This record gives sequence, C-alpha cells and structure tokens, in this order.
Amino acid sequence: MRIDILTLFPELFKGVFDTSILKKATKKNLVQIFFHNIRDYSKKKNKQSDDYPYGGGPGMVLMIQPIYDCIRKLKKDRNYDEIIFFTPDAEKFNQKTANKYSLKKNLIIICGHYKGIDERIRKKIVSKEISIGDYVLTGGELPAAVFCDAIIRLIPGVLGNESSALSDSFQDDLISPPLYTRPRSFNGWKIPEILISGDKNKIDDWKEKKSIKRTKKFKKL
Ligand code: ADE
Repeated sequence: MRIDILTLFPELFKGVFDTSILKKATKKNLVQIFFHNIRDYSKKKNKQSDDYPYGGGPGMVLMIQPIYDCIRKLKKDRNYDEIIFFTPDAEKFNQKTANKYSLKKNLIIICGHYKGIDERIRKKIVSKEISIGDYVLTGGELPAAVFCDAIIRLIPGVLGNESSALSDSFQDDLISPPLYTRPRSFNGWKIPEILISGDKNKIDDWKEKKSIKRTKKFKKL
C-alpha cells in the first residue's frame, strides 16, 4: 500500500510511523508513506498556502492551488483508489471502514488546518470524507495518523501473529476477553484459575463468555 499525505505539518507525524509496528511495516515495504508539504506547491512568492475567507469571517482558509497542483503531480504517476479528507462533519470512522481501506493500493490524504479549506477542494478533488469522532481537532493530521494506524496494522504480514488482528476488539463486533500475564499473583490479586488449567476447550469457552459479556455491556453504554 502507498499513502501520500498532504500536510502543512509533516513533523506532526514524527513518532507515529517511526515507532513499533508501523515502523516495521514500512521497513518490510508493506506500506510506503510519502509526505508532501502543501507549502512547497504554492505559487505565491512567500509560499503562502492560506488566505482570508471571501465574504469575511474569522480564521484563514487553505487555498486550492497548492493542493490541486500536488495531487495533479501524484496522479500523473499512478491511479489512486481514494482521495480522503478528514473533517468532523462526515461519516464516522469505524473498524468496518478500516477493514475496507486496508485492502486499497494507493491513497491520498489531505490534512486541513486553520479554519478550514476552500470548499472547492472538498467538492471537486476529494472523493471520501471521514470523521474520527464528534469533537473538533485543530487539523487533519491526528485523524490521519489514527486512520493510518488502524488500516496499516490490518495489512497481512504487518502484525507478527496475523490472527491477533482478527481477534481484536470490534472485529466480528465482539470485544476481546480480559488478558493476563505474569505474575500469577500480584499484591494478592490472582489471575483466573481457568487460564492455567491447561484445558483448552474450557479456556476458549471462558474467553467467549467474557467477550459476549463485555460486548453486551459496551452496547448498553
Ligand atoms: N478535523 C478536525 N476534527 C476532526 C475530527 N473529529 N475528525 C476528522 N477530522 C477532523
């Protein structure tokens, strides 16, 4: 998978893709991520990439020209499955959407900032708008990082044990059972005996029951 991210702040992604599982995915070449600083595509003398809104109002608005030129250049070299823009006023991201996007080949992500972006970018360039929740962040960089993490870990070969992605909370709409590791007793707090019983069937039953219980509780919230 290839992901091209258009942003004014590529440094905001530092750490996200340079650490742990996402770093391994990049090293194994299972995903390639390219950052494009929107400013670099501005035709204005001072690399200006935002301007005052027509009709007045607070805040600055990202201009269409640098984003249009950057995407035109990218599209010359390959086809893209989707051009995604993150915004709170869109369909909400969930595991089903993550599954779907983990199968894509080439994606472009546009990160907005400041007050907003020129509406023509949304209407004429973007093919999919996604929200990560009902709250407003300062820009699309954090939503983009959340989205990339959720989809990259689903690419076959990214997680050491592939079954662990499939047994995740929310896959199959069931929440994972509780997990325990060593020591068996800490401060007198013991792990459930069943987990060290060696009886695989009983352990699987216990896990399933706990998953169902957690799922029912979560759905009531
Ligand atoms: N940009 C700002 N807030 C956002 C949110 N909640 N989801 C997606 N993009 C955003």
